[in-house]
Formats: sequence, C-alpha cells, structure tokens
Amino acid sequence: MEKILEVKNISGGYGSVQILNGIDLTVYKSEFVTIIGPNGCGKSTFIKVIFGIANLYQGDIIYKNEDITGIRADSLVKKGIGYVPQIDNVFPSLTVEENLQMGGLNLSRIEIDERIGQVYDIFLNIKQKPYHLAESLSGGERQMLAISRVLISNPSFIMFDEPTAALSPKFREMILEKISDLRKMGITVLIVEQNARASLAMSDRGYIFSNGKVVHTSDAGNMLNDDDIGKYFLGGTQ
Ligand SMILES: Nc1ncnc2c1ncn2[C@@H]1O[C@H](COP(=O)(O)OP(=O)(O)O)[C@@H](O)[C@H]1O
Ligand SMILES: [Mg+2]
Repeated sequence: MEKILEVKNISGGYGSVQILNGIDLTVYKSEFVTIIGPNGCGKSTFIKVIFGIANLYQGDIIYKNEDITGIRADSLVKKGIGYVPQIDNVFPSLTVEENLQMGGLNLSRIEIDERIGQVYDIFLNIKQKPYHLAESLSGGERQMLAISRVLISNPSFIMFDEPTAALSPKFREMILEKISDLRKMGITVLIVEQNARASLAMSDRGYIFSNGKVVHTSDAGNMLNDDDIGKYFLGGTQ
C-alpha cells in the first residue's frame, strides 16, 4: 500500500513545553484513520506539529514521499494537505460564500466558483445560506462550512480535530458520514474524534495516544472488539 503520511519518531510541543515524545504514525492512501486518547494527551498538538503550527523538536514528517518537516502551513495546503481545526475554524463576520472564497486564495476566480459549486452539492445545508454570516449558523452548519472551506483547496489528505465536538447527535452522525464519504472523492482522512466508537466504526485503523506517545495501534475493528480498550478508552464495553 502507498503511504500518504509517514511520521517518524517525532517530538514536539510549544516553545520549551514538550508535549509529544517519539510518535510514529503512518496513514496509507485512501485510509480513514482515527486517533483517540484522553484529554490533554497531545492529539491536537500532534496535528498542529504536522501542519507546521506547533514546534517540532525532532523526527521526520514525510508526505507523499517528500520530507515536509519544517514546511509552512500555506505551502502544505498547496501540496494538498487540509486541516480542519477544532475551534476558530470559520471567519464569523464573513458570509458563507466569503468564507469559502478564503479557502481558495491560491486559485483563480473561475476555479474557486467551480469548487464552491462542488462543495455546495456535498453540503446542501450551507448551499441554502450563501449570504448568511458564519456567526449566524448553527454549530453543525459551521462545521460543514469549516470542512467545505478546506475542500475548496482540493486537498488529497485532510486532518480533522474533533469535528463533532459540541454537536447534537443528529449533526454528529451526519458530519462523520460526510467525512467518511470524502474517501469516495479520493481523500485520505486522519481524524481525532471524541465519539470514538462511531469514528472507529468508519475507520480502517486506529491509534491510541497517551501522554504524548502512541500506546496502541491496530485495525479499527480489533479496537472496537477489545474489552480493555473499550473499558479504558471507549467509555465502557458495549
Ligand atoms: N499553546 C500551548 N502552549 C502550551 N501548552 C499547550 C498549548 N496548547 C496545548 N497545550 C498543552 O499541551 C497538552 C496537550 O494538549 P492537546 O494537544 O490539546 O491535547 P488533546 O488534543 O489530546 O486534548 C496539554 O497539557 C495542554 O495544556
Ligand atoms: Mg484536542
């Protein structure tokens, strides 16, 4: 299988505050991979280090056979990497359409309009509100806008940080399904998700982080069927 992302023995954090301690993680092309782990264990930091917005102290990050260690976020976007942050992921005082245009800053006007048409067909909820301010949207609609904005740049790999946090069960399910559907468009997904069971059920593989390290990785199905993992990381057996 072809690797899209290979992270080798990375350590990182914020300034002198070390959070990650020697993480290895691989994502293969077209996979859906979920990272779970307790609050504060470094999941968001891990994604931020890959995206070049938290500090990398050591290790290598390879994307599509290219070393992207130390490359800035805007250049990573041009290479096809998307990142949907957990918070502050839309511009509240801009309209839906303006937010989407911001996602295509490196594209021509014609390309942007074409891409906006394509994402509207995926997220019909926001298609109906092109001139609404992002701040007026519901939590679920905002999340759809955040994902759509990243899709405008035509990424082949997207990292999601808790995309369903604080959403109602209805939107939670819908957003996860939409993310899972992205694979049909050839997009590879790495996701950090609180709703671990639902996310693992859609995943090929999973990783468990604890204290800035990987403590387990296996097929998602195995993780869902493992009593210990269920008890300690998935909120009880089921
Ligand atoms: N900007 C920051 N500066 C210093 N420490 C931070 C910063 N952001 C997060 N942290 C700390 O890093 C640790 C890991 O946080 P985070 O990666 O957000 O965990 P998770 O996403 O797994 O809940 C936490 O102890 C958190 O307080
Ligand atoms: Mg987090």
